[in-house]
Amino acid sequence: MMQETDIKRLIESASEIRKHSYAPYSHFTVGAALMAKDGSIYTGVNVENASYPVGICAERTAFVKAVSEGKSEFCAIAIVGGRKEQSESAHELCYPCGLCRQFMAEWCKEDFLVIAAKNTNEYCVHPFSEILPFAFSLSKE
Ligand code: THU
Repeated sequence: MMQETDIKRLIESASEIRKHSYAPYSHFTVGAALMAKDGSIYTGVNVENASYPVGICAERTAFVKAVSEGKSEFCAIAIVGGRKEQSESAHELCYPCGLCRQFMAEWCKEDFLVIAAKNTNEYCVHPFSEILPFAFSLSKE
């Protein structure tokens, strides 16, 4: 069960890491913080590329870091993003793109929470089933 303090801690981590976003093309900077079931937190930012489709979103960066470190069970991800020059309170909530939703589906059960946040006081929490209903998956051997 995620406590409110965990949610706020994740939002703070996402907001803090966002300063490392590499977004010289879109100027849209995103930070994400993913909590594994053991309580550890993995952060990520969007990393763009001169060949635009090569860039990666903050959410997938966080998942790739965590899975690379041996994690496979997760509770929640917080996402903070918006135009670089805007203050966080001026942002719209930033939700994962379709590609990230499918990427997450590999790891996320229905109880996984997606937290779209402006800051630690303004955020929305959604179960993954609401973020990607009827998710495609294959059974694993
Ligand atoms: N982006 C993310 O990192 N996460 C999202 O949830 C939405 C979009 C990135 C991709 C690209 O670098 C920039 O934001 C603008 O689309």
